[in-house]
Amino acid sequence: MITANTPLGVVATEYSGATRILRSHGLDFCCGGNTTIGEACGENTDKLLSELQGLEKFEGDDDWKSRADSEIIDHIIKNYHAKHREDLPELIRLARRVEQVHGYHPECPAGLADVLEKLEEDLLSHMAKEEQVLFPAILENADKDWMSHPIKAMLHEHDEAGKDVELMDQLTNNFTLPEGACNTWRASYMNTHTFIQELMEHISLENNILFPRALGE
Ligand SMILES: [Fe+2]
Ligand SMILES: [Fe+2]
Repeated sequence: MITANTPLGVVATEYSGATRILRSHGLDFCCGGNTTIGEACGENTDKLLSELQGLEKFEGDDDWKSRADSEIIDHIIKNYHAKHREDLPELIRLARRVEQVHGYHPECPAGLADVLEKLEEDLLSHMAKEEQVLFPAILENADKDWMSHPIKAMLHEHDEAGKDVELMDQLTNNFTLPEGACNTWRASYMNTHTFIQELMEHISLENNILFPRALGE
């Protein structure tokens, strides 16, 4: 049962549909996964708990905690790394276009394309390091002390990506479209919002399940 003492990372990884609700409340379940609901929400705790109460626990193949490292890594590479690589160039193009055409608009997300471009550069290097160094080490069951170093570096880079997400939330007023927004603006916000949701689920799987397990925690 989910209570005020349940950590956000546990809610995100054990309950189906939880990540969307947490994200809609602006809660960081990936890098801030150890924070409890009570600590993160304060006086809004009961409201969030009532929204989370009806959720079902993941079972069988949907429960990543019960899956082997090799399956989790395979899933991360195919469904997150490959997808981010495919999605980011188009997200940058859309944001650039909105800024060029609507630069005069008071709600124009000035700087969004630059943040996405930086994030793409950081993520491409980050994912390559995971795929070439850390994931093979996890699969070979490498020495835990040795692995703690690349894992620490990856956690730090996740935090940096989290800051970029915060910045994008601010620039877009939490992805609120202005009245009469054109189709490019709509596509930019909708697709970037989906990308962020996927990025946070990706980081959550690494921070809350894969990396702690590799370190024997
Ligand atoms: Fe990753
Ligand atoms: Fe990562």
